[in-house]
Amino acid sequence: MANVIVVGTQWGDEGKGKVVDIYSHDADIIARFQGGDNAGHTLVVKGEQSIFHLIPSGILHDHKVCILGNGMVINPEVLIREIDNLRERNLFPGDTKLYISENAHIIMPYHRRLDSARERHKGRTKIGTTEKGIGPAYEDKVARTGIRFCDLLNDEVFKEKLERNAEEKNFYLTELFKEEPVDSELIYRVYKGYAKRLEQYAANTSVIIKNAIEKGNNILFEGAQGCHLDVDHGTYPFVTSSNTVAGSACCGTGLGPTEIDAVVGICKAYTTRVGGGPFVTELTDETGEKIQKTGREFGAVTGRKRRCGWLDTVLVRQSARLSGITGLVVTKLDILTGIDKLKICVGYKLKNEIFTDHVPSDITQFERCQPIYEEIDGWTEDIGQARNMSELPENAGKYIKKIEELTGVKVIAVSVGAGREETITVENPFE
Ligand code: GDP
Ligand code: IMO
Ligand code: MG
Repeated sequence: MANVIVVGTQWGDEGKGKVVDIYSHDADIIARFQGGDNAGHTLVVKGEQSIFHLIPSGILHDHKVCILGNGMVINPEVLIREIDNLRERNLFPGDTKLYISENAHIIMPYHRRLDSARERHKGRTKIGTTEKGIGPAYEDKVARTGIRFCDLLNDEVFKEKLERNAEEKNFYLTELFKEEPVDSELIYRVYKGYAKRLEQYAANTSVIIKNAIEKGNNILFEGAQGCHLDVDHGTYPFVTSSNTVAGSACCGTGLGPTEIDAVVGICKAYTTRVGGGPFVTELTDETGEKIQKTGREFGAVTGRKRRCGWLDTVLVRQSARLSGITGLVVTKLDILTGIDKLKICVGYKLKNEIFTDHVPSDITQFERCQPIYEEIDGWTEDIGQARNMSELPENAGKYIKKIEELTGVKVIAVSVGAGREETITVENPFE
């Protein structure tokens, strides 16, 4: 048995969903531990695409247990839509179990309203959030005023908390942002409906996970966002409001750190970022446009164009350190096919200082860093059919070796297409 965490090593959208779907084959439980519907995890199975925002990406396999952990912030409307959509497509078999932690926090309409109002208010300096209310929901959690799933299910507690919170949020909305207030009566009625629909899934998910471990089951933890969007370790303030590093899997599900066996870091073969914030290897030229187009780099949540650039191994090295990554999965290698000369960033230069093992904490310094590149010859052969490292063109193989050398972590799989089967597996983290 083994317990494996999957995390993004960049700024999100590395292909975590695809990898989690593949690893779910060997897992009994698949658990999300942080974030909310700011995540968009895409799977392509038998040519059919599914995008999950809240439900773990293991849901397409039969006989699995999928868990939404206590570290998440859940918009019940989005979750119900996701469940209904799966049922309509006959993709939620009766033997699949879904559990929602009673301690998970609930995203309320005022969280979304505040998120959008703040972004508008900030103007040019905005973060570029997904406007899903993620930040304001985590703020309430830390302020100890948040509404947890168990609070939503308790009529008296819910009513009282909602009234108190709505009063405070309406003050911000009307006085500071000069916007319409929210209607707490209406919210109460709508959310009671959500509670009725979702109460069947409520559970103490920490106990479920612990019991499963004792039975010798395999647990897979699905990270959302990426290491550099982590609220402590990311490119603050251009980050999300949760901890996205692997350690967060323990806090976000109620699992002890000694139970973890492997941490898999997902690393896109190049770098992308949605929203604002510095991006040292960003390409604003034709090559960047080509990668954006070929890689279909559009946000799975907001539809925004993702900014694209060369692979930045300073970012990946920092992620490997912060998450204790034991193996890397390189994704979207196929998108680099046909680019004559590939660049890999090995360090940053800032005046007389060189950064190789960490990103400067001061964002004004990070903004001014210049990339130090190594150049590698590209390849032109189609690699979509490769299922073995030896089937990759020599230069593609060298690119992978270079990533291993620069990050100090072995590559345990390479993804060469969006489909489940378009994967080269070198090592299975559950074995
Ligand atoms: P996540 O948020 O980390 O799960 O990643 P997203 O789903 O937001 O973005 C990754 C996108 O790339 C999705 O559209 C995937 O279907 C797609 N994808 C994943 N791996 C590959 C790959 O190896 N090649 C190609 N061409 N597409 C891939
Ligand atoms: P997945 O799980 C990429 C980014 C937003 C914004 C910042 C803060 O699909 O990889 P938030 O709404 O969280 O307050 O926004 O974080 N962001 C993501 N970028 N992938 C994601 O998730 C993201 N979730 C949030 O674009 O820059
Ligand atoms: Mg995504």
